[in-house]
Amino acid sequence: MLSSEQNELVTRTNSGTGCGELMRRYWQPAALVEELEGARPLKQARLFGEDLIVFRGEDGQIGLVGNKCPHRGAELCYGRLEDGGLRCPFHGWLFGPDGVCREQPAEPAGSNFHTKVQLKSYPCREINGIIFAYMGDGDAPELPEFDCFVAPNSHSFAFKGFVDCNWLQLLEVGIDPSHASFLHRFFEDGETEQDYGRQFRFRTEDDGIPVTKVLREFDCPEIEFEETEYGLRIFALRRLDEAQMHVRVTNMIFPNVAVIPMSNDMMLTQWHVPIDDEHSFWYAIFTSFNDQVDKDAMREDRLKLYTLPDYKPRRNKANDYGYDAREQKSKTYTGLGEDINVHDQWAVESLGQIQDRSQEHLGTSDKAIIANRRILMKAIEDVRGGAKPPGWVVEGDEHLFRGPISIDTVAPANEWRRSWMERAQSRRAKSEWAAEP
Ligand code: FES
Ligand SMILES: [Fe+2]
Repeated sequence: MLSSEQNELVTRTNSGTGCGELMRRYWQPAALVEELEGARPLKQARLFGEDLIVFRGEDGQIGLVGNKCPHRGAELCYGRLEDGGLRCPFHGWLFGPDGVCREQPAEPAGSNFHTKVQLKSYPCREINGIIFAYMGDGDAPELPEFDCFVAPNSHSFAFKGFVDCNWLQLLEVGIDPSHASFLHRFFEDGETEQDYGRQFRFRTEDDGIPVTKVLREFDCPEIEFEETEYGLRIFALRRLDEAQMHVRVTNMIFPNVAVIPMSNDMMLTQWHVPIDDEHSFWYAIFTSFNDQVDKDAMREDRLKLYTLPDYKPRRNKANDYGYDAREQKSKTYTGLGEDINVHDQWAVESLGQIQDRSQEHLGTSDKAIIANRRILMKAIEDVRGGAKPPGWVVEGDEHLFRGPISIDTVAPANEWRRSWMERAQSRRAKSEWAAEP
């Protein structure tokens, strides 16, 4: 439980707020690369309560800039993409992706007024399907060597989805391993491990136990976590019998990223990014260790769930998330279909747009959530006092931030701590690109 003041502290992210300023000190997803494909490579992007636009100039450079023209305030999302930049249609001022004002055609010849005007802009980097931006003070940190960043593009697929609530409750579902035994319970075990959204519909490597069965039959996992250089490593431990332990290892990269196993070959790195305090996007990179990904098939699969151009979910509050009482009796725990994204969407949105954490009652199984809030509140204070944010990567230290390893496996109960790591490492050894973490 948090006090109302603490809840405000960790959920408010507009410019000038403690949490917002902290989160801006990390590279954050601003758009998908696919959003800038097509005839007009420009898209509005509201981020941390700021109305921005992201566009690709003729030279290929990407700009994330303010939507308001610094001349008289016209909306630049209506601008003309020409002459290597973005031209305001009101009086023709031309801006580069870096926000520099290059031309003011209505000013007298020889005027240097344009050198005194700057459009707000943030540095961007394009990585494996996502445009990341640094919106914080000072120079940006280096990029860590996390798997999702170093994997080849052929082994990566990126997508995003709109969620009608605050960013933190979205992150907190990702660091809450015990909900999977209930919210994502299936009464039968399927074999369709390739289907996106049917996460858990795979068998543990070597042991061949359906993960759906493990989650269903062992619904009181022991949760452990450890603090790491990047955030938290979280273990959900299910004792299958005397000899065997099911170990599910997930991670939280501070401050707003969850890393979870999707199957034996694929993992998911998911950012939870505030559009503003009441709305968010999740951005995900799916990373495959061995097989190349079929991007077209994966995209098609997701478009069964989301509509373009806003990446809004087809099942949502307005249609009761497709709730079916008969299905709830016989097939799924929720009656909300077989896609786990819909389950999570319902769960986080049903907490309210900004969850009131002064009214909750956290138990033992919530210990990772509790730990994360403590770390978050401390980091907000520390950064306010001038300290570097946790996990800040300086040049030369990129290799210290690798992995993080996420895995579902069955290990000997008495030595699971050693065993899960060995299994994860042997999987990585087979991969052509994954480095030793
Ligand atoms: S308002 Fe944009 S050029 Fe005048
Ligand atoms: Fe979930």
